[in-house]
Amino acid sequence: MDSLKIIGGKTLNGRIKISGAKNAALPLMACGLLINKGNLELSSMPNLADTKFMCILLESLGIKAKIINNIAHFSGNPSKHVAKYDIVRKMRASILVLGPLLTRVGIAKVSLPGGCSIGTRPVDLHIQALERMGATINLFNGYIEAKAPRNGLQGAEIKFPKISVGATENIIMAASLANGRTKIHNAAKEPEIIDLANCLNSMGAQISGAGTSEVIIKGVKCLNGCKHTVIPDRIEAGSFAIAGAITGGELELINCEPRHLLSLSEYLIKAGVNWKNTDKTITISSNGNLNPVSITTSEYPGFPTDLQAQFMTLMSIANGNSKIVETIFENRFMHVPELARMGANINLNGRTANISGVQSLNGARLMATDLRASISLIIAALRAEGESVVSRIYHLDRGYEKIEQKLINCGADIERIRE
Ligand code: UD1
Repeated sequence: MDSLKIIGGKTLNGRIKISGAKNAALPLMACGLLINKGNLELSSMPNLADTKFMCILLESLGIKAKIINNIAHFSGNPSKHVAKYDIVRKMRASILVLGPLLTRVGIAKVSLPGGCSIGTRPVDLHIQALERMGATINLFNGYIEAKAPRNGLQGAEIKFPKISVGATENIIMAASLANGRTKIHNAAKEPEIIDLANCLNSMGAQISGAGTSEVIIKGVKCLNGCKHTVIPDRIEAGSFAIAGAITGGELELINCEPRHLLSLSEYLIKAGVNWKNTDKTITISSNGNLNPVSITTSEYPGFPTDLQAQFMTLMSIANGNSKIVETIFENRFMHVPELARMGANINLNGRTANISGVQSLNGARLMATDLRASISLIIAALRAEGESVVSRIYHLDRGYEKIEQKLINCGADIERIRE
């Protein structure tokens, strides 16, 4: 397993190009299962472990899938309907093939993803919504076995009791080829949902309201290929913005969507960071002297849970006390003991972290536990005095394209140690 050796204390200066969004790319790739004719071509496709897994999963279902130079191509028809445990266990987002398979093939067998380090992460909302559309679903031997009615899934009124990004995406895809009209109430409003709806509409779907809490989908008979560009990764951009803020210097992030990061910009500015943006760029500068700011994570447009760990690292060296409340996942504080080993002063009380800022962090041997915890440790190591070695960085490779190269170009001292 590879690790990253980081000598901290270097000021970051320079320009970083933001990649396409992993969380937009994965559902867009699942749309490869929905095409009747033509190719689906997705540009700005991030080259990540997770997008490679999704290609392998789609190929195992009979789709021709390839990614060349950040452009992904999908064609062909699904000839199999089983998403096997071996692939699903590596990537929870594999559940996104359930809706497309069921609506296109009429039958789907998808391994239950199971929990992960940040929480139990059930898929009950996906299952109940598909049942509302007429599917018969059984859970057997660790698999979701789903069947659509003989004449296909039926449009339905779906009221989600809780907001779920993945369930909203699964139902939008399933409803695109269902009979009649589906209305989703309490839908997720993330930019990735809008990107999915835009792509599906280019394929011939009829979706309105994406980006609001009510999405209406009028089912169509077939969908065709199209060319679509994946939106920039707001979480990658936010992570680099925080890295810039903690190390001082000036970072320019290009090819990003600042309007997707309004919540982060508000809190970084409160913390004393200089944030300037144009339509597609963000410039971050800071003298590394930070005010304490408290945050509570919530669904979009609130503060993203995927930036919580990074923001906590920033607050660990702020001048005073702050509080972070995690409302989305029940166990998303795995980075706290590792930050404590670097000298951070953080006390956990259920879903709340109380942080007393310290003057400096010290380098240490660290263990990455999940994707966003990993980047928070990298950010901490960039600021810390001395050397850190972050192991198990395969988590990082799931979500950050060319991470060390992008940071080295801005003056970071990072080396990948291959094992
Ligand atoms: C997506 C993102 C992930 C992000 C999360 C929340 C992708 C590939 N991943 O994950 O990076 O952290 O949104 O913004 O886009 N829940 C249920 N039942 C369900 C589904 C979800 O109880 O059937 C719960 C989850 O356990 C969690 C909450 O709802 O507590 C939100 O999860 P959800 O929005 O579904 O997250 P994902 O789509 O898995």
